[in-house]
Amino acid sequence: MTTDTPPGFLHGSPQGSPQQTPPDTPRILAFAGSARSASLNKQLASVAADRARRQGAAVTLIDLRDYPAPLYDGDLEEADGIPPAIRALKKLFAEHQGLIIASPEYNGFITPLLKNTLDWISRPDGNASGLALFDGKLAVIMAASPGAFGGMRSLLLTRQLLANLGVTVLPNQVSVPRAGQAFTDDGQLADTGLVERLDKACAALHRHLSCLQA
Ligand SMILES: Cc1cc2nc3c(=O)[nH]c(=O)nc-3n(C[C@H](O)[C@H](O)[C@H](O)COP(=O)(O)O)c2cc1C
Repeated sequence: MTTDTPPGFLHGSPQGSPQQTPPDTPRILAFAGSARSASLNKQLASVAADRARRQGAAVTLIDLRDYPAPLYDGDLEEADGIPPAIRALKKLFAEHQGLIIASPEYNGFITPLLKNTLDWISRPDGNASGLALFDGKLAVIMAASPGAFGGMRSLLLTRQLLANLGVTVLPNQVSVPRAGQAFTDDGQLADTGLVERLDKACAALHRHLSCLQA
């Protein structure tokens, strides 16, 4: 684990074990669209995972740095197939019905890491469809930025990308502006209004997943 890894992240292994929870517990996979050790969005994903767990969901928090994949290239795919890290991610996607994605905004857009990861997951692996891994999933999206607008512009595009893949993205979304000052030393969100928004978003995800499983 690097010293500046955000609280809540134990680098190297998914946090949470959905297999050990009752089968009707909503299972959520949470990750950030940034690999940076001190990523503000990793902090946000970690807080969101914690809030969702408090509401009864089984949440697996992962760090995409642990799932490295080359930039998608059809020739690479033909020569080498699906990268092992993407195979592992596909398995995680298959095991969870909900997604929490916290991603930075790069030049008003989603990050290459998020796009590349989702593109690879969407590819078939032998007879196994990639798109089937997204079909019927529910997601809550969020963004943190040191800027005043909290990555708002990218949220629309994350929403669009996920919808194109077949994911239902809930209307609740969370944007954390001036995120460099937004977290306490122990990794919590300082602003109670933002915590409320996060709780509402996680509760909506939990409620919808529970309804689908009923
Ligand atoms: C290439 C690049 C483009 C960026 N563009 C934006 C932007 O359009 N809007 C914004 O709010 N922040 C922008 N930023 C700043 C990021 O929000 C900031 O680096 C943030 O901390 C990245 O997220 P992370 O902390 O989760 O890694 C940009 C950063 C990079 C590296």
